[in-house]
Amino acid sequence: MHLQGTMVINERGRLVIGGCEVVQLARDFGTPLYIFDEDCIRENCRRFYQAFNAGSGRAEVIYAGKAFLTTAMCRIIASEGLGLDVVSGGELYTALAAGFPVDRIYFHGNNKSYAELCQALAAGVGRFMVDNFAELELLSRLSVERGQVAKVILRVTPGIEAHTHEYIRTGQIDSKFGFTLPNGQALAAARRADELPGIEFKGLHCHIGSQIFELEPYSEAATVMMELAAAVKEATGLVTAELDLGGGFGIYYSAGDEPRPVSAWAAAILTRVEAEARRLNLPQPRVLVEPGRAIVGPAGSTAYTVGSIKEIPGVRKYVAVDGGMADNIRPALYGAKYEAILANKANLPPAERVAITGKCCESGDMLIWEAELPRIESGDILLISCTGAYGYTMASNYNRLGRPAAVLVRDGVADLIIKREDYSDLIRNDVLPARLVRTC
Ligand code: LLP
Repeated sequence: MHLQGTMVINERGRLVIGGCEVVQLARDFGTPLYIFDEDCIRENCRRFYQAFNAGSGRAEVIYAGKAFLTTAMCRIIASEGLGLDVVSGGELYTALAAGFPVDRIYFHGNNKSYAELCQALAAGVGRFMVDNFAELELLSRLSVERGQVAKVILRVTPGIEAHTHEYIRTGQIDSKFGFTLPNGQALAAARRADELPGIEFKGLHCHIGSQIFELEPYSEAATVMMELAAAVKEATGLVTAELDLGGGFGIYYSAGDEPRPVSAWAAAILTRVEAEARRLNLPQPRVLVEPGRAIVGPAGSTAYTVGSIKEIPGVRKYVAVDGGMADNIRPALYGAKYEAILANKANLPPAERVAITGKCCESGDMLIWEAELPRIESGDILLISCTGAYGYTMASNYNRLGRPAAVLVRDGVADLIIKREDYSDLIRNDVLPARLVRTC
């Protein structure tokens, strides 16, 4: 396994994150446990902030909260000067509860409800990332009713195919997201935004997909979107002051993943936008990017306790841990590959090849099909790295497993940032109708 962020192996052969022994964290907080390395999160924020020169006001880095969002995470993101992309009333509520600067909140979503739009207008979010005509009309009506003007960025489907899993590909024409560019809908949306009261057009947005390693789709997106900006200007006179090229920057999960340095993404995007602005004789837009995974993915890991071990001679050795698809659905959903280490035997060489499985009642509940690990025993603490993004946020209570706790570690101190769900949490929303009360 690649050691990420502040991970080191100490003289006792134990894995340490943020100055805390993982074995000790498991003892203190129980397992499964999400462990977030604060220095690593901050370092990733700074890499983006600096590479895009966000302090200059010519670019902004917006953290995509869907990757991992809690009130503590909001505080970290806010203190690093990033904006925040929220996609639901729940994410917005979290950000507001954390006191996130409201003008730096970008409200996404392909089906924002009436209630969510009202909530966002009342809060005064910085930008509405409008996804479709119905939303545009409704937002206009609601803004006018409230005597407000909503600052709007139009989400566009540019017709760019990125090489990534089809479930997380979003730039292609056949997509549920955004106004389609090639068939003229995006331009029509800009015209409508221009006509409607209560709407101030600020710019254009696209997000081509996630876990992308190539630079070319981003520069291509920049060209296509700048050409749209030129068409919008010609048709309406509207200036695209902000161009948001989304997130999706690929990270390391397992051998074979070769992420680019952030500076390479930044250079590819910024140079292309500048060049296109010159070519098309447009003012330079402020460039926005929305990394989620690249900020928090490598900074999070999950510690499990090894339980039952089943060896089928000549076939496979199944090592079961006390979590699984309920706390990390990505292997089952996308075939995502991860790496693991035994936190209590971190300095021992690999001795066997095993399959790491979860405790859910499904054969598909596999975390890693092939892991090379030292001789493994029940009671060992197994840590899977790079689970920080879309692990907790996609977790479920399948099989009535409580969602794990999360701790934030830094300089030898571990702070709880999400409590473990206990059995009472699991039945908290259950309602027993009166007619069933007397049945047993
Ligand atoms: N901006 C927009 C508009 C998005 O839809 C997304 C991700 C992002 C930014 C952030 O993308 P990132 O930098 O985190 O790749 N559950 C999937 C990922 C779904 C991503 C959805 N949108 C997974 O676990 O891989």
